[in-house]
Parts: sequence; C-alpha cells; structure tokens
Amino acid sequence: MCGIFGYIGRKEALPFLIEGLKKLEYRGYDSAGVATIKGGKIQLSKCVGKISFLEDKLAQKPLTGKIGIGHTRWATHGQPSDENSHPHQDCKSELAVVHNGIIENYQELKIQLSGRGHRFLSSTDTEVLAHLIEENYQGDLLSAVRKTIETVRGTYAMAVISKSDPKKIVVARSGSPLIIGLGENELFLSSDIPAMLKYTSRVIYLENGELAVMTPGGVKVFDLKGKEIAKEIDLISWDPESAEKGGYAHFMLKEIHEQPNAIRKTIAGRIQPDSHKIHFDELTMTKEEMRTINRVVFTACGTSWHAGLIGEYLFEQFARLPTEVEYAAEFRYRHPIIDKNTLVIAITQSGETADTLGAVWEARAQGAKTIAICNVVGSTIARESDGVIYTNAGPEIGVASTKAFTTQLTVIYLLALLFGKVREIISESEATKLIQDLIEIPDKLEKVLLGEEGIAKIAGKFYQATNSLYLGRGKGFPIALEGALKLKEVSYIHAEGYPAAEMKHGPIALIDKNMPVVILAFAGRRYEKVLGNIEEVKARGGQVIAIATEGDDAIARQADEVLYIPNTTEALSPLLAAVPLQIFAYYIALKRGCHVDQPRNLAKSVTVE
Ligand code: F6R
Repeated sequence: MCGIFGYIGRKEALPFLIEGLKKLEYRGYDSAGVATIKGGKIQLSKCVGKISFLEDKLAQKPLTGKIGIGHTRWATHGQPSDENSHPHQDCKSELAVVHNGIIENYQELKIQLSGRGHRFLSSTDTEVLAHLIEENYQGDLLSAVRKTIETVRGTYAMAVISKSDPKKIVVARSGSPLIIGLGENELFLSSDIPAMLKYTSRVIYLENGELAVMTPGGVKVFDLKGKEIAKEIDLISWDPESAEKGGYAHFMLKEIHEQPNAIRKTIAGRIQPDSHKIHFDELTMTKEEMRTINRVVFTACGTSWHAGLIGEYLFEQFARLPTEVEYAAEFRYRHPIIDKNTLVIAITQSGETADTLGAVWEARAQGAKTIAICNVVGSTIARESDGVIYTNAGPEIGVASTKAFTTQLTVIYLLALLFGKVREIISESEATKLIQDLIEIPDKLEKVLLGEEGIAKIAGKFYQATNSLYLGRGKGFPIALEGALKLKEVSYIHAEGYPAAEMKHGPIALIDKNMPVVILAFAGRRYEKVLGNIEEVKARGGQVIAIATEGDDAIARQADEVLYIPNTTEALSPLLAAVPLQIFAYYIALKRGCHVDQPRNLAKSVTVE
C-alpha cells in the first residue's frame, strides 16, 4: 500500500517521478505528491486524487531539480486530502519525507513533538518522521534518519531529502519494500521492480533494518549501527514491455489474456519433457524431508487464499496429506498448533502482504517448514520463507488478481503431484497422465479466451444487477468464491460465493427474478448434484449462468446462459473455470463505467495489517 519512487542523477527528476508513480498507482491512488531540490531549496507539489490530478497541477507549476522523491497514497491515518498527501515536511520546510507503512507509536510521538513546539499540518502518522528527523539533524542526514528510526515502532519504507544535504536521498526500510535501481550515472528508488524496469534491470533489494544513502556517485547501504554493508546486485530478467498495457484497454484484460503463456512459463523447466518428472529448482527440500511432512497448512489472503482452498482439495486427493487453509490474519494470531512436520505454504502474488508475512514468521517461530508460492522475485515473503516457488506470471499490475491466481493453481497442482509421487500415493503412470493434462491447459485456455465476445454479451444482460450468488461444489466452490470476489471488487455489485449445497440453508431466501446465480457445473463427481441446485434456483425464478464442460448440451435447457470450458481432468477444471468469470466481471465493470484497474478503496499489495 502506497508507492514510493525516487530519482537522483544528471537529468530532470520530475518526468521520472511521474512515470514511476503512474506505474505504482496500483498500490494506492487516493492522493499523490512529489518533492525535488533545486538551488538549495525544496520544491513540493501534492494533491488529493489520482496522479493525473497531480500532473495537471504540475503542468501549471512544474518542479525542477535533478533529485526528487514521490509518493502515491492509500490512506491509513488521515483521510485522503491535500494536507495528508505525501511528501511531509518539518517545521522549517527544509526536508521532505515519503513513507509507506504505519508508525504505530505516532500519537505519543506527536504529543511529545508538539510539546517541544513542533507544528503539525496533517493527521498522518508520517509527519512525525519529518519532525523527528528535523530534531535529530546535526549536519548528517543519514545519522538523523538512523536516530529517528530508533524512536519509532511499526513498519516503514521511507525516503528523505533535505536542503541541508542537497545531493542525497536517504532511505530506510523495515517491513515495507524498497528497491534501488542502478542506472548509468543515475539511481532510482521504487517500491517495486516494474516501475523502474524501463530504466534499469540492475537492482539492490534493501532488507529490513537497512538504510541507504543514494548520491549521484552511487549508493551505500548501512545497518542500524551505521556499519556499511556490501550488497549484491540482482539482475532482473523481466521484459520492460511486460509492465505496459501492450494495446489492451486495461491491465486486467491484458493479464487475463496473458494466462496461457504465463502458465507455460510456470511449467517451463519444472516438467522434464520425456519423463514428465516434476522438478522445482528453488525447492530446497529433499525427498526424505518431504516424507517427514504429516500436515499441510496453506495460508494467504484474498484471491491467493482461494488458490489455497483448491490446494486443500489437491493435496488431500493426490498426496493424502491432512490439509487446512487459513486466512493469514487469523492464523498468525491464533497460536496455531504446528511443528517441524508441518509444511506451511504461504501463497502470495506480491510477496509483501503484511498478514501473510506475519503468518510465515509465526510458522517459522513454531518450527514448521515454510514454502512461499510467490510471483514477485526477491519480495519479502520469498526471502523470509525456507523455500520459494515462483509463479513466473510476470508483473501483475491490475488490482484484481487474474494470472497470479491461475499460475498459483498451476504450481499447487504440480506440488501436490510431487508430494503424491514422493509419498507413493499416485503411481508413475497416473502422474504422467495428470502432468500431460496440465501441459494441455494453456491451449485449452486459449480456447476459453476465444469466447470473450460471447461472455461480454452475457455481461451486457446482467450488468444492472445489484446482487448475485456464485455457487459451486467441491473444487467448484473456491471458484465460486473467486468469481464472486472478482465481480464485487471491480463492479461493486454485491456477490456472494457459497458451497452449492449450503444454498438451501439460507441463501435460497435471496433468490428471485432479479438475482443472477452463477453456478459452477463442470464435469466431475458432483455434477448431478449441481444440476439439482440449478433446478432449485430456476424453480424460484432465479436466472442461472452455468459454467459447464464443452459437449454438455443438455445444461443449456436448464440454465439461462452457459459459458463453456474445454474438457479436462476434474482437478484442473477450476483453473479453466476461473477465466470466464474473470472476463464476465471485467465486462460487467466496464458496462457500469467502473475503473477496472484501480477499483475504489483497494490497493494491489496490502502491506498493512
Ligand atoms: C483480489 C486480490 C486480493 C489479493 C490479496 C492477497 O483480486 O488481488 O484479494 O489476492 O490482497 O495479495 P497477495 O497475493 O499479493 O498476497
């Protein structure tokens, strides 16, 4: 939540700051601001609203200078307003600070600082940082920031510039991401990689408890005691184009269409072409260690949690391991009973979700083994887990998760098969067949995508609904939850996902002629029972949109609309079924005039609890 971008070099900073902030806008978009230094003076501009508002403001009164910091905000403390936008300043406007995270003891610090005569202009937690740095400044900005950190509790990624030290950006990190990009005679600072991919692929990840001084001459990283640390430079292999819309109207639509290739990349190198053996380079667990696992716990938030629910079905089915799925925020504070034989799998696109990170810490503290299934290379959760399996989906920028979800399902499917093989639950020939089914999925997904126009037409019939139900049984249930989440987050239509069998225990009371009911009715063990649920909805005047398997012509006589997915093994049908529901949500949101890539109140990575 919140995005930070910084530049120091030989060129004007402002265009870089605006461009970088636009790429980070998915992290928060309720206000934005920039600050530069020119002629020994801080120049600052900020306002409530999207970055385009800031751009308009800057067009009237541009900022100049070859050093600058910028911020796009998702409000936590203090409502979105001009005053609460970052950067924040000290009493004398000599320095400017941008911050991502939460200063938990800001209220007590604010009282103390006010008592010492400091004047506060905002109701944010961040402003205390500016005043503390002001107090602590004795000729060296780095020392002032270091001293400030000693007094604050909470999470932060912060960047500070000061007119007293005009050729420096001092940055610090604890709990929120911060990455330094190394260009030719210039340095970049960003909350994520895609925002600076256009300028450089050489990066340094700041770790918790590290500070850095960025100057035109280079970067130096220090620990909290002020000792310089030698850092590795990582080379990012993502293609800069992957962070652009590439001709699509929205990132969400682009990312929906990227799914076949994203899954091909997820599989690549992990299935041996001839033997169909599964191999994860990054997984440091030996077969012996895998055999010691007697329980699996998936932990995640939101869409990633839905992927975990599918994981529960797959691990029970293929590996016969007792498996649970936990919301990360619940798991971390509940004194979970886990031990060294428990495998805790954290699923996260961003690798920065605060609760999922907390769940990993809790799991490790209890002695469990942890694996992260993660999309963002080098992210905090990827680095804090015992092992990581990257989903290789490329940057996901649309706030609604699409390709991250289907690639998570791909990794989970392979991992469940791997455990099934190691535990000798599934035979070599069964595994080979199931892997072949997965290899065919990208082509089948391409077929699903060809149905986009038809799905858009159906969306056109239902876009005025105010409520909707999504029902599924077995592996269709998590997809019902995911379909409902996609619809509500991008279109603001109230949508509830339910296990279809539970409908009779309450939600059936909601059904009338105005209630669209999406029913996951793909081929599988529970198909007949799902047909029964369709009848029940129809008998009460509800309108049914069924997701069914190609060739099921009979269902068209029961349902009002049918979205078909190609036939595959039941374990992979959820992956195919998720995609028409993403397209459905996208077109409904579009018809309703919603901001698809930046739905209201949301942010892409939730780095606060
Ligand atoms: C929904 C969505 C969110 C995320 C959730 C977890 O479309 O994107 O529900 O899935 O915030 O985020 P990650 O996976 O980054 O931990």
